[in-house]
Amino acid sequence: MRKYMDNELLLNARKPEGELGSKLIDNMNKNHENLAKWSVSHFNISKDDIILDIGCGGGINVERFIKMTDNKVYGLDYSELACERSEKLNQKTIDDGRCEIIQGTVSDMPFEDNYFDIVTGFETVYFWPDFINDLKEVRRVLKENGILLIANEAQPIEDDERQKEFIELLDANIYSRDELNKFLKEAGFSKITFYNKESKDSFTGDYANWICVISQK
Ligand SMILES: C[S@@+](CC[C@H](N)C(=O)[O-])C[C@H]1O[C@@H](n2cnc3c(N)ncnc32)[C@H](O)[C@@H]1O
Repeated sequence: MRKYMDNELLLNARKPEGELGSKLIDNMNKNHENLAKWSVSHFNISKDDIILDIGCGGGINVERFIKMTDNKVYGLDYSELACERSEKLNQKTIDDGRCEIIQGTVSDMPFEDNYFDIVTGFETVYFWPDFINDLKEVRRVLKENGILLIANEAQPIEDDERQKEFIELLDANIYSRDELNKFLKEAGFSKITFYNKESKDSFTGDYANWICVISQK
């Protein structure tokens, strides 16, 4: 079996820290681009949309969204390093008052109710600690009819040693389409739409079945 990637490096996917965390952020900013572009192509972003990217990592998606709206874009991550890197990447738009990066957890976000038009989470829900309640918290900060986008490179694969290693190492949850559908409904989301793309794991290059789910408050 091919090793997933250096375990010490991979451990930082849950909460990037230190030198290896920084290295992983460089990696993610580059390698997650195709997943982000593909998933964002499934809905429209208006020039007045206020957008939040949860688990923003190195802030590359925040930077991308800034180009798609004239309104404000927020990034939230519980990793101090991820916030520092996101701020560095988006310093100019932060100075212009168009962008804010906030260190915090998805479980209890420092935003008022009904504030965002769009909330996104790329490659992050694997690590959310209390998924249904975290989805309810996302729903709270979304406006009526606001959109949640979740994009994951991984779906469960039975008897897959590499995926098993990833789950154990990172204490991660890899959700199937049925689980995502059930949890989103339970959290109060509707108009749940799924997209799939047979592609590659951005780190190993191995086969991966990407999933994107768009749902509405
Ligand atoms: C695999 S990285 C993905 C980063 C970025 N979204 C991307 O696609 O490159 C997961 C990110 O989610 C963040 N994260 C994980 N759990 C979180 C939580 N409970 N609240 C906020 N951020 C979280 C981590 O710190 C990390 O930066």
